[in-house]
Parts: sequence; C-alpha cells; structure tokens
Amino acid sequence: MKVIHTIADLKNYLLKERQNKKSVGFVPTMGALHAGHLSLVHACTKENDICVVSIFVNPTQFNDPRDLETYPRTLNKDLALLEPAGCDYVFVPRVEEMYPEPDTRVFDFGTIAEVMEGAHRPGHFNGVAQIVSKLFTFVEPDDAYFGEKDFQQIAIIRAMVRQLQMNVRIHACPILREPDGLAMSSRNVRLSDEQRQKAPLIARTLKESINFVPGKKVQEVIDFVVTTLNEEPVMRVEYFEIVDGYSLESVRDWSESDYIVGCITVYCGEVRLIDNMTYKR
Ligand code: PAF
Repeated sequence: MKVIHTIADLKNYLLKERQNKKSVGFVPTMGALHAGHLSLVHACTKENDICVVSIFVNPTQFNDPRDLETYPRTLNKDLALLEPAGCDYVFVPRVEEMYPEPDTRVFDFGTIAEVMEGAHRPGHFNGVAQIVSKLFTFVEPDDAYFGEKDFQQIAIIRAMVRQLQMNVRIHACPILREPDGLAMSSRNVRLSDEQRQKAPLIARTLKESINFVPGKKVQEVIDFVVTTLNEEPVMRVEYFEIVDGYSLESVRDWSESDYIVGCITVYCGEVRLIDNMTYKR
C-alpha cells in the first residue's frame, strides 16, 4: 500500500495502473476510520482492480469551526486498518495541496441541498461538492463508494456527477451498526460513556417507528420519534423528516412515493449524530 501526499504523485501512479488496463475504485473519507468505512473499502476491492482511499478533513464543508477543530484525526491507526483491507493507494493531501487558492465555486443543486442537512449546515454541501469534484478529477475513478448513513450526501454527489458530466458510478453502501444498533460514525468516539450508552436509542426508536406506522399518519410517526427521543434528557432532536427518497421533499402521506425514508439528526450532548430508516422501497 502506497501513501501519497501530492496530486502529481497520485496522477502518475494511477496513470500507470490505467495503462495496464486496471479499473480504479475510490473511497473518499475524512479518516477516523471504522468498520463502516472498511465495508466501503471491501466493496471497492471486490469490484475493482485498484482501490484508492483518500483521507482528508475538508475544511470547506465544516460550517462550525469547533466541529472542524474537534473532528477526530487518527492517521496512523487509519493506515494500519487500510493495509490489511486491501487498499492499494491512500491519498493524504495537506490543505494547501487541495486548496492552493480559495475554491469560490458555488453549486446549485436545488431542493435536495436546501432541506435537512442543507438547512441546518449552511454551505456544507457546497464544500462537499467542492472537495469530491476535485478528488474525482484527480483520481478519475470508475466507481466510487459512499455510506448510506449520509443519505442526503449521496443524493448531492449523484447530482454533482450529473451536472459535471463525470464518468463515475456512485455506489451507496448500507449503514453499518454497532451490536446495540448505533450507526457507526467517526463522531461516536466523542461520546462520553453515558452518552454512548444512551445513543442507541436513536436507532431503536427509528426501528420501533416502523412497527408504529400501520394505520398512522406521517405526522404521527414524526411526533412519535421526536417525542420519544426528546424525552431522554441527554438528547435533542435537530430535525426528523420523512421524505421522498428521490427528491428529498417531505411527504405528508405514505401514498405520495414508492420510496420513503426518515432522516434524523440528534444532538447527544454536544455530539451531532445522524441516522436514517427506510419506510418504503
Ligand atoms: O462523508 C465524508 O466523509 C465526507 O463528506 C467526504 C465525502 C469524504 C467529503 O469530504
């Protein structure tokens, strides 16, 4: 496994691979890797000759400077996990390498970027599109892999690939959960012992809400989830929306779409956790 820090080296290595007719798969990450990331690497190595992983904590997607500052950084541990997972190249650029000058591009993805995370984290998806478009341009992957925990992010990336007419297949991989149901996230390490003990309530409540659905209106299910979680003193629901899985627009009736997903963000103490649950597909 080669660890690469510059765009020039990355391009050189991958050019040689492509000259040898190798297909290139790509897993972009911000590091602090866990089994969820490794499942993406696994899918990538299975479906491609070469697997590239990037580790870069992208400053332009953080709307909260404190979140950027406290984002976990565990490079040595990450590299130790990637090598046995079959990764071939790890791209670990410095901020100056990716942003030699400010990226002033402003993307317009319409509603899908304005709701949920878009409404609560202004500029977040623009920053994601900036970095992922740069990474796709440098890596030129045939396939790229993202986790479904970031449900809205995948919709944004698909829209970006369409807008920029990029030739990459986007794969959405299922959420990996801890044995107690908590969705795996790099942010979980920031939970205190007490918060970590309480956090699985999010997934448990989403799961219970599926049994609650029959005969209930969409709004009743929303109220059930929000009330259950807000009753736990350590938790505060930022939003819970039940949306059309394609347009990400809120649905008011279960008959409005054949693909319906509930997306949630909850503060567990100071830690912002996201999760989602498919109600209909
Ligand atoms: O999902 C993430 O970890 C990041 O948003 C991504 C896609 C690596 C872009 O920085």
